[in-house]
Amino acid sequence: MTRITVASHSEDLATQMRRALSDNDGSVLVWPEDISATGVEASVQSLASERPDLVIIGPCPDVDTALLVAEQFDLTHPEISVLLVAEPNAATLERALHAGARGVIAPTDDDEDIRALVERATAAAQRRRVPPPPSGRPNNRVIPVLAAKGGSGKTTVATNLAVTLAKRYPGDVLIIDLDLQFGDVASAFGFEPTNTFADIAESREAINPTALKALLTPRQSEGLYVLAAPDSPAQADDLQPDFVRDVVSSIATEFPFVVIDTPAGIDEFTLEVLDVATDLVVLTSMDVPSVRAARKELAALELLGLGHVPSHLVLNRANAKVGLTIEDIEGTLGRPIDVKIPSNRQVPLSVNRGEPIALNDSKSATGRAFQKLAGLTAPIEPEDKSWMRRRRSE
Ligand SMILES: Nc1ncnc2c1ncn2[C@@H]1O[C@H](COP(=O)(O)OP(=O)(O)OP(=O)(O)O)[C@@H](O)[C@H]1O
Ligand SMILES: [Mg+2]
Repeated sequence: MTRITVASHSEDLATQMRRALSDNDGSVLVWPEDISATGVEASVQSLASERPDLVIIGPCPDVDTALLVAEQFDLTHPEISVLLVAEPNAATLERALHAGARGVIAPTDDDEDIRALVERATAAAQRRRVPPPPSGRPNNRVIPVLAAKGGSGKTTVATNLAVTLAKRYPGDVLIIDLDLQFGDVASAFGFEPTNTFADIAESREAINPTALKALLTPRQSEGLYVLAAPDSPAQADDLQPDFVRDVVSSIATEFPFVVIDTPAGIDEFTLEVLDVATDLVVLTSMDVPSVRAARKELAALELLGLGHVPSHLVLNRANAKVGLTIEDIEGTLGRPIDVKIPSNRQVPLSVNRGEPIALNDSKSATGRAFQKLAGLTAPIEPEDKSWMRRRRSE
């Protein structure tokens, strides 16, 4: 069933949508508030609360605000598509697509044009909707960050994704450093861990979530918990894959979001943990070896039976000028890139400071890329349904 919300005063537009979609088994709601008066974030929160597949905004006297709403949806609710109703000149269309909208409906479009646009936009939304976790698994998101090649940015992406999720859900996020030999998650947060995987193994306590939680490092400044890698490769050598799997799946029951940094490729520890993954973040960068390796990695994940687990394809250093285009990469990988993280000098600087860049930066293209990734991995929370209740009681 397709759920469409028309954000407009215009009952005419709603009537036209209902007529155009009369063959479709769906619902069309009208949200009659004034977006400019309500404000961008409040409007998006209110509109998203009904979990529509598609929001149609317009006709827009204030195109700039409508574009900001489209952009905010793209960042925080990528599983909801947006169409604008506006004069479809090239400039508006380009700005709309750039803001993450799926297209522009012209006031003169007939029912067939509208149907085609709506179908494309709702199909895109449904592809992006994160399914509920399969039964039998903890009702939490376990998100390994993978890359076939070392140095692709796994630690950068894992730490910044964790920080971004923790801004939205303070205290609900755990980051695990599964790069057991040379992991540097603790260093990315600027601390020396007192407890690591090795200490958990040495404590010889039975593995249970409460005992494990006491061995994590709480990070007040970022609002999350860290399970750090051992201090030395020798200590890592003593760990067994099934022990690590049991620790991860036990502690994962305590946290709604568990982000896992991994070493390059799929080692025996990552392989165990993939069993409990609910989402995969797969990284590539803009060079031919990295893209080829990513293609092999996606094929390997498929062979491992993980084809059904939602995966989010991230292109790191996306603006590097190295003769490859995004279209080349998408063609080779046979699927669209979900998130593009630009190359940014502030990233290594933030690592050296021990403060992931997303902690204080949600506005730059880099900060926004991490917000988009967080939106893909965090299912939307129905929050304020007051406008619906109001409408229904009218
Ligand atoms: N978008 C970016 N812009 C600029 N520098 C970046 C970006 N992403 C990562 N880097 C830098 O690239 C280097 C490698 O990144 P990172 O440590 O995250 O990669 P990794 O995949 O975890 O590496 P390893 O395989 O060694 O664990 C770091 O110095 C990091 O600061
Ligand atoms: Mg790393």
